[in-house]
Amino acid sequence: MSNGVEREQWASKLGFVLAAAGSAVGLGNIWRFPYITGQNGGAAFVILYVILIFVIGYPVMMAEISMGRKAELNAVGTFKKLRGGPWVLVGWSGIAAGFIILSYYGVIGGWTFKYIFSSFTGLMEAGAAGEAGNFFGGFVSNTVQVVGLQALFMAVVISVVYKGIGEGIEKYCKILMPGLFILLLVLIVRSVTLPGAGEGLAFYMKPDFSKLTGETFLAALGQAFFSLSLGMGCMITYGSYLNKDSYIPGAAAQVCVLDTMVAILSGFVIFPAVFAFGLEPGAGAGLTFVTLPSVFSQMPGGAIWSGLFFLLLFVAALTSAISLLEVVCAYFIDEFKWTRHKATVVMGIIIFLVGIPSAYGLTGNLKVAGKDFLDAADFLASNVLLPLGGLFIALFVGWLWADEAKKEVTNQGDTPFGLTGIWIWICRIVAPVAIGYIFLSGIGVL
Ligand code: PHE
Repeated sequence: MSNGVEREQWASKLGFVLAAAGSAVGLGNIWRFPYITGQNGGAAFVILYVILIFVIGYPVMMAEISMGRKAELNAVGTFKKLRGGPWVLVGWSGIAAGFIILSYYGVIGGWTFKYIFSSFTGLMEAGAAGEAGNFFGGFVSNTVQVVGLQALFMAVVISVVYKGIGEGIEKYCKILMPGLFILLLVLIVRSVTLPGAGEGLAFYMKPDFSKLTGETFLAALGQAFFSLSLGMGCMITYGSYLNKDSYIPGAAAQVCVLDTMVAILSGFVIFPAVFAFGLEPGAGAGLTFVTLPSVFSQMPGGAIWSGLFFLLLFVAALTSAISLLEVVCAYFIDEFKWTRHKATVVMGIIIFLVGIPSAYGLTGNLKVAGKDFLDAADFLASNVLLPLGGLFIALFVGWLWADEAKKEVTNQGDTPFGLTGIWIWICRIVAPVAIGYIFLSGIGVL
């Protein structure tokens, strides 16, 4: 160990899966997935997304976890230790991506506070009157309030990461993730039985492949990386706290399946309701926050369901935000020997400040390349930095680190993994070619 201090580890074997699933399952599944699917034509996009998750996401996740567990370091330190040279840039790009994502993630995280509270103070009335869209519009144009809530959310994130890897996060995830799951199932029943739900189900389940374009592919790829927390060293960092005898292929598979399930289930809540209430599926970032209050307002005890749902959305967002801050802090702790306390507070505050333009941009007065600031930051991180990070991680493992990687995923041969050969070839050829092609055609170069 570089500084002679025993590296922190997950408290239980299940701890890693829970924490990694907590990182993966977040706003990406419940907020981002439905609205990106809505903007990209529905079912065909979903099919493409699922294929990308398993053909590219799963192998890259295994690559990240094995690198991290081997090196026992943050994203930059891991590349330095395993190879060095220009590869360290991949680690830096990951830290930058974590920084950018958390800056706007904190803004959306703050929204959940408003919605928990408003569930009992007017949101249901607005929903019942078909005014959920106006409610949302009014809320986000009040920048002072949005920034205040963002600050509150970031304060909670900082306070958890401040305490370290420990047991806190693990216990949280264990109780609250199943809770989220059950609630989603209940909401699906309500949503699909709304009058007029059928059209939404068709949109979500009947693919129209003519809607797929280069941009759609890039959106699906970006969503896959975002949702699985890949391409920025998050799984390298979490892997670095992983026990040496955990079975990486199994753990990674569990995380991928859980994450995909929650995303798909969210679509079953959102789309029937979108069509039942005559809303626009391509409406963008507000989609979930407009649709769900409309659904809740149609349910007996709607305020309670609504409050509970946004509480769980907050928890899902929190466990992901924690992992984002951890990536950045682990870098400062390992590389600059900062204390954990200093790293979390200093970086947490800086990231909060960097997020303010995203909050202000919701008023529509701050655009970058025709997009709201938040959307532009999200595009840069999700559709550029994460896929490129994933591309280089795959190349690294496939071409430079394959022998070590094989040993790492099989625990030196103790726990064989039948797909090891395929995995390495996906890292060598399939993932880099697919990501490279999708990226270049998505930005209009090909
Ligand atoms: N996967 C998280 C989500 O779906 C977001 C995230 C991205 C977290 C990258 C960590 C790293 O909300």
